[in-house]
Amino acid sequence: MTFQKHYFNEVREAQKRAHAPYSNFKVGAYLVTKDGQSFYGANVENAAYPMTICAERSSLVAAIGQGYQAGDFAAITITVDADQPSSPCGACRQVMKELCDDDMPVYMTNQTGEMIESTVGELLPLGFSGKDLNN
Ligand code: THU
Repeated sequence: MTFQKHYFNEVREAQKRAHAPYSNFKVGAYLVTKDGQSFYGANVENAAYPMTICAERSSLVAAIGQGYQAGDFAAITITVDADQPSSPCGACRQVMKELCDDDMPVYMTNQTGEMIESTVGELLPLGFSGKDLNN
């Protein structure tokens, strides 16, 4: 299963749903579950700026709301309109660490189809997780 064929059109569709009137920086996310379902995510901004929800977390929260749980996710693709693909913010990395496997692929794309592939674990090395609370 190649990245371009299966995820690019979907994540670009998700991006169109962004509510980003303040930054005008629309971000899309396309989250695939291990059982083959998928969830669109988009950033949702607010006039009270810090309330903003990123596209990555939006897709994960949507999936959890539909009954999926930590460990159920297979891959996430994100997209932006920029010279190069941008990578998830720190808050999203922490939430992915909580809900996704460390080796889950994270595909970062832009409008030209450029793609950078990483994983949740690579994006948050030595990350804090529930395991740390059990010490
Ligand atoms: N944004 C995301 O949706 N995901 C990220 O990982 C980085 C930033 C959004 C938040 C805000 O609406 C806009 O991009 C500019 O920061």
